[in-house]
Amino acid sequence: MSTTFKLDTSTSRANPTPAPMKRVTVPAIRNRKGKEPLVMLTAYTARTAQLLDAHCDMLLVGDSLGQVIYGLPSTVPVTLDMMCAHGAAVVRGSYHSLVIVDMPFGSYEASPEQAFESAARIMQETGAAAVKMEGGVHMAPTIEFLSARGIPVMGHVGLTPQSINMLGSYRARGKGNAETANLLDDVKAISESGAFSMVVEGVMESVAEEAMTVAQIPVIGIGASAKCDGQVLVTEDLLGMFERTARFVKRYDNLAERIETAAAQYAEEVKARSFPGEAQTYRPKEKK
Ligand code: KIV
Repeated sequence: MSTTFKLDTSTSRANPTPAPMKRVTVPAIRNRKGKEPLVMLTAYTARTAQLLDAHCDMLLVGDSLGQVIYGLPSTVPVTLDMMCAHGAAVVRGSYHSLVIVDMPFGSYEASPEQAFESAARIMQETGAAAVKMEGGVHMAPTIEFLSARGIPVMGHVGLTPQSINMLGSYRARGKGNAETANLLDDVKAISESGAFSMVVEGVMESVAEEAMTVAQIPVIGIGASAKCDGQVLVTEDLLGMFERTARFVKRYDNLAERIETAAAQYAEEVKARSFPGEAQTYRPKEKK
């Protein structure tokens, strides 16, 4: 499957020309350490990106699309093809937020060279300015390799969903002394690797707050602490698309219920032949 898209630079709703504002840059995000909180949400489609763009500093094309869009059991089966297709859609649908694309499981762990090849493909095919990868101490040399070669990397430590088969569950991390010490080692290693920011996911609040002092780059929390440099959530979670979510999710809407209500009403009207109505029906114009 080819996922190569030509970036559209013509005037359209998604990419007005000239662009109404300059896209947020990687250095601008790095400079927000300890300043105004950074707002990040996931987006997988152009339309969602359009709706979120003005409210966010960063849009993350997360590999959570595996579960959210494709109904997969975890992020493990997500492919580079999927990330490239959705990454390109989100770039087309936004002009303000920095777009970051997740590197999927299996596309970067083998070597820095493998990671460079995958990240370069993502950036070339999507137009995104940065990638995100999971892992702490062991991934730091890879992040250093990529950063030195023009690829901005966001780290991701704490609960790392791609390692679900090693972790055994999605429980919060940092409960004991040993786990906390390892976690803070990861935070320090990523901070010193050249990453421009990092996600800290699913950790005890006290650990997140310590991570904030250890890290010299912005820490984006998800199930971490309100004191982080920024927050991220999966957009479909905050919209209330799923009945079961992690404890750290706050639902700002109940979209699942509203979609079901709309679908039920549509079905009723189709069966009653009251849809389409007058307003939705083409008829020849009456001659005067
Ligand atoms: O894949 C994803 O959506 C993520 C965020 C939840 C941080 O990695």
